[in-house]
Amino acid sequence: MRMYDLIEKKKRGGSLSAEEIAYMVREFVAGDIPDYQMSAMLMAVYFKGMDDREITDLTLEMAHSGDMVDLTPIEGIKADKHSTGGVGDKTTLVTGPIVAACGVKVAKMSGRGLGHTGGTVDKLESIPGFKTAIPRDEFFRIVNENGLALIGQSGNMVPADKKLYALRDVTATVDSIPLIASSIMSKKLAAGSDCIVLDVKTGSGAFMKSLEDSISLAREMVSIGTLAGRRCCALITNMDVPLGHAIGNSLEMEEAIETLKGRGPEDLTCVSLELAANMLHMAGKGDMEQCRKLAKGAMKDGSALKCLKSMVESQGGDGRYVEHPDLFAKAPLSREVRAPEAGCITHMDTEGIGVASVMLGAGRNKKEDTIDYSAGILLRKKYGDRVEAGETMAVLYASHEELFGPAAEKFLASCTLGKQKPEPEPLIFARVS
Ligand code: URA
Repeated sequence: MRMYDLIEKKKRGGSLSAEEIAYMVREFVAGDIPDYQMSAMLMAVYFKGMDDREITDLTLEMAHSGDMVDLTPIEGIKADKHSTGGVGDKTTLVTGPIVAACGVKVAKMSGRGLGHTGGTVDKLESIPGFKTAIPRDEFFRIVNENGLALIGQSGNMVPADKKLYALRDVTATVDSIPLIASSIMSKKLAAGSDCIVLDVKTGSGAFMKSLEDSISLAREMVSIGTLAGRRCCALITNMDVPLGHAIGNSLEMEEAIETLKGRGPEDLTCVSLELAANMLHMAGKGDMEQCRKLAKGAMKDGSALKCLKSMVESQGGDGRYVEHPDLFAKAPLSREVRAPEAGCITHMDTEGIGVASVMLGAGRNKKEDTIDYSAGILLRKKYGDRVEAGETMAVLYASHEELFGPAAEKFLASCTLGKQKPEPEPLIFARVS
């Protein structure tokens, strides 16, 4: 078999057989298919798509490209969640501790920032000392003791996704249903949890911009999960507007902690609680109403915050940051972005706002780039808000003065001002099970 022929076949819209997919994944992971050939294949898949059988074969092959985690040393039902990626999406940092505080184990592998979206691993690493790579036994022990551990894709887990994810990030091949579905579900299947709740983002800041595509992605992933014997459902949530007010790693950590203290923005609180309630429901903790009450209770009585603090300490981080989030390092420079005219914000190009935060140093342009944890954006105004001419719409944070001009320009170009207050949009559009 030759990779050249497989690229040619996919370029012409053909369907790759199970053997061809197995060959491609195996040889790519072994380093015998170079990045340039895999990049061509990714672009061919982007344009020609894959059928359901190909997506399932690709997912299973990727999941088995490395170690499959056996979570049986962790007692009880294990629940996992995964977001398809968004701007300001720090729900894992809120939802994980809530679910664990309600007695359901969360042994979660998270990702790094991808394209214009942030990643939980980068956010957690803004806590001094926090380790996202820990030995397997240690991971199990922490989950058994705390109910929760959040780590990166460590060791030899899903190496196929590690390599593909990094390549897609720099070849403009992220927003493809087969590639997102196989990337996410291979990690979820390899990570071994019994229940999986998928947060499929939709709108201008999501990889899937239309509700229709988001529902197709959700159906694809739920079907792969169910076929693999897991309890699986998906929520389609709004990413037409950044979630919460903070974008950027340590800024988002601070906001997640405030949310666990009950003082978070309404949208972030609502989506996090609903995801948590679905995880609890999947894990058999009761009907949806009972699970919503449980989730709210864990936020209100402080048990979820306590759980986050003990997880941070168990993973080598400084727990004082959870109690006093003002300890997070602040960017040395800040710049206010002011409204050029009066009006209402009628549209936010949320991807553009994510790109502006990457331009400030909060994300990566190339896979080798390092992140400035303190860089990012605090939104003062969001979709539907009225602004006066010259009023502050957002504050930008960075470590180098020259980053502000282009980022401010990108931010302003991403916000549309109009005369009329727009209709409010739903936060959660649908549930797919
Ligand atoms: N998140 C993932 O883990 N993979 C993708 O492809 C997109 C978002």
